[in-house]
Amino acid sequence: MRLGKKMGVVAAGAALALTLTACAGEGAGSDSGSSDSGDSTAEGGDLSVGVAMPTETSERWIADGNAVQSGLEEAGYGVDLQFAGDDIPTQTQQIDAMITGGVDALIIAAIDGTALTSQLEAAAAADIPVVSYDRLINGSEHVDFYVSFDNYKVGVAQATALLYGLGLTDQDGNPTDEEGPFNVELFAGSPDDNNATFFWNGAMDTLQPFLDSGALEVPSGQTEFDQAAILRWQQETAQKRMEDLITSTYSGDTELHGVLSPYDGLSRGIITALKGAGFGDTIEDGLPVVTGQDAEIASVKLIQDGVQQSTIFKDTRKLADQAVVATEAFLAGEEPEANDTETYDNGVKVVPSYLLEVDTVYADNITELLVDSGYWTQDEIDAGQAE
Ligand code: BGC
Repeated sequence: MRLGKKMGVVAAGAALALTLTACAGEGAGSDSGSSDSGDSTAEGGDLSVGVAMPTETSERWIADGNAVQSGLEEAGYGVDLQFAGDDIPTQTQQIDAMITGGVDALIIAAIDGTALTSQLEAAAAADIPVVSYDRLINGSEHVDFYVSFDNYKVGVAQATALLYGLGLTDQDGNPTDEEGPFNVELFAGSPDDNNATFFWNGAMDTLQPFLDSGALEVPSGQTEFDQAAILRWQQETAQKRMEDLITSTYSGDTELHGVLSPYDGLSRGIITALKGAGFGDTIEDGLPVVTGQDAEIASVKLIQDGVQQSTIFKDTRKLADQAVVATEAFLAGEEPEANDTETYDNGVKVVPSYLLEVDTVYADNITELLVDSGYWTQDEIDAGQAE
């Protein structure tokens, strides 16, 4: 395959990449990114991989970046890891620099899934395979592989947690005798992130029968994705929207029982707004049921303390492993193994994908899912902070 040509120029390219990496000052991750295993005698030899992560403001991306980096280094590759501070021009510049620096493969978690077309063209022209990491890159034929979780199922799991928290279903989503009605508000992720609509669709398909029967109501009337979406997944934006909803809809007698939130950062913004408006400090005290995603340490503590109801655990170690496996396959001139070749159409092609499963974390399974698996220690959870 096309990598054959690349192999011949690999050593020079890798050396240049390491030089450029050492000079690259910008990017929050540039210090950790300047890893240098170019002299490794392991399988990867002098090959190097550019790893572009969206932001360091969320723990999950730091964990992803670190796990991908160490997996690649263990396999003997040099790594240029960069975080882009959720800024699109920063990310495009970082990827441009990786390509001109001569990386042999790219692993990219995009900020805006539609903003990387010219970078991907340059990568293809240089025979650099591109693995789209967790967020699908849209509008380009040059996305070679996609590693992620089953994002539709993430949305189903979030909505199921909400329904379970309200008592409308059991943990598996089977309806109970409870008829409601319960009042909920709905939040969605960033509109430029392909995952956000998958989460939303999975959640809305799950909630729809309960909305149709009247067991659930959305008193604000804001039930469209565009009304619920939070650009760049910003906690402050979610807090502001929740405050606005409280003012417009809940300043009288109307009660609020639950909030669908697709990411822990948003959940914490929502909880701050709710607490500030006097809804109570814990769910037991009257705080609405708020869902989440990513098992961020601050939210896991809130779940342990009965403040946030749930989160979706995506084991970033497993995702990082898959990204490394896929990259190694490309660099060996092979095609990575996909377990889904139908779902992820990026507008130009269906991208072969490897999708992982997720788990829902509640207060009573934190130990089993997060501590026993070594994801967080009990001390970290108690402190609400990663060590
Ligand atoms: C990821 C989520 C994450 C969100 C915000 C999405 O693309 O799939 O796990 O919560 O971005 O960072």
